[in-house]
Amino acid sequence: MTFHNGGDAARRAPDVLIIGAGAAGLMAAFTAARRGRRVVVLDHAPEVGRKILISGGGRCNFTNTEMRAERFISQNKHFARSALSRYTPAQFLELLAKHKIPWHEKKLGQLFCDNSARDIVQMLLAECAAANVTILTDVRITDVTKPQDFRVQTSAGTFTSKALVLATGGLSIPKLGATSFSYNIARYFGLSVVSPEPALVPLVFGQPDESWVQSLAGVSLPVRASCGKIGFDESLLFTHRGLSGPALLQISSYWEPGQAVRINLLPGEDLNALLAGLKKAKGQMKGPAALGRWLPHRLAQELARQGAPEERPVVEWPDRTLRALADRIHRLDLHPTGTEGFAKAEVTRGGVDTRKLSSKTMEAQTVPNLYVIGEAVDVTGWLGGYNFHWAWASGHAAGEAL
Ligand code: FDA
Repeated sequence: MTFHNGGDAARRAPDVLIIGAGAAGLMAAFTAARRGRRVVVLDHAPEVGRKILISGGGRCNFTNTEMRAERFISQNKHFARSALSRYTPAQFLELLAKHKIPWHEKKLGQLFCDNSARDIVQMLLAECAAANVTILTDVRITDVTKPQDFRVQTSAGTFTSKALVLATGGLSIPKLGATSFSYNIARYFGLSVVSPEPALVPLVFGQPDESWVQSLAGVSLPVRASCGKIGFDESLLFTHRGLSGPALLQISSYWEPGQAVRINLLPGEDLNALLAGLKKAKGQMKGPAALGRWLPHRLAQELARQGAPEERPVVEWPDRTLRALADRIHRLDLHPTGTEGFAKAEVTRGGVDTRKLSSKTMEAQTVPNLYVIGEAVDVTGWLGGYNFHWAWASGHAAGEAL
């Protein structure tokens, strides 16, 4: 346990007690403390902001310039709107400027630190220190009750506070200390929880797809992956377990068991016309070489094996074969049997049901002074800085209300 700001009996009875010193918890802490609240943050991990440190390949994709509520999944698709409109990417960039943290845009509005994700953690800690927030790490929470004020029993003794903020995040990466704490406490206080599922997660397959998909491990290409009405134009990666890459991770958040994922392996092109052109030019290439003009070689070989007449040059292919092959490549329907689970998921879809939370303040409507923020809430962002932005925005919304 570390007392970042000293420790005394008064700190056992703060105005605001926040459980979880991650992105959302720290943002809520200094926002409330700047407004004069005495804030204590408790975390069971030995250090704060561990997910921030490993995020974005160590450079933290901390927000996205294309922020909008439609890019978040929730049972209530309007819930995120209010908090997002009151804490924008520009406001987070102002904070970075204040701390002289250099950043850059990678692609699709995704903003990353130039140096290290540690810059973000240090910035949050500096803001907390300046606002006199007390942060205690290595603290195990053993019980939460509300005789009148909240009473939280921990391995570091008992804390009481008027307001309690649940900010323990989702279930992804259990080895980093992810727990269902917020869900359990929310349920205890009568809130419901939308079933937590792995999201932004690689998908796996059964036979017959499993063998050929896995045989292409390492192949990557730009695709359009879709599920139902939603689709993403990004890259796809074949792995030794199944499919990953940004396009697949994005679609995994929308995928439900039993649904097909449709992949256009050559978006923006008309393969039927391209192959017809080859045929017309009396192309002597066989399947792998013909498809290899537009697709990675190993993938072209596999697709030709599945759908092209063996040993015959394109000029001899019947038009219907050509059309069927082009069709399959533009509309490859795969049936995942599952995901790689929370161990590999970047985030959790589902969480504390928003129907009993105020979208303005994150306070539970039925339990005054109980707040839920960040990934623990049933709001899940797209890949690309959206989830951190939700943590900042929901933490800020609560911090302004506490
Ligand atoms: P967060 O998980 O950050 O913090 C929760 C805190 O609660 C932790 O400090 C934890 O130790 C603590 N805690 C948990 N259970 C507890 C208990 N029982 N008692 C006490 N404390 C407890 N997003 C994004 O926008 N851009 C990106 O680049 C990435 N990259 C990325 C990479 C990887 C590998 C992962 C796993 C995730 C990402 N994310 C991401 C997602 C992002 O990390 C995530 O959405 C936010 O960290 C959520 O912030 P929260 O504060 O809600 O939870």
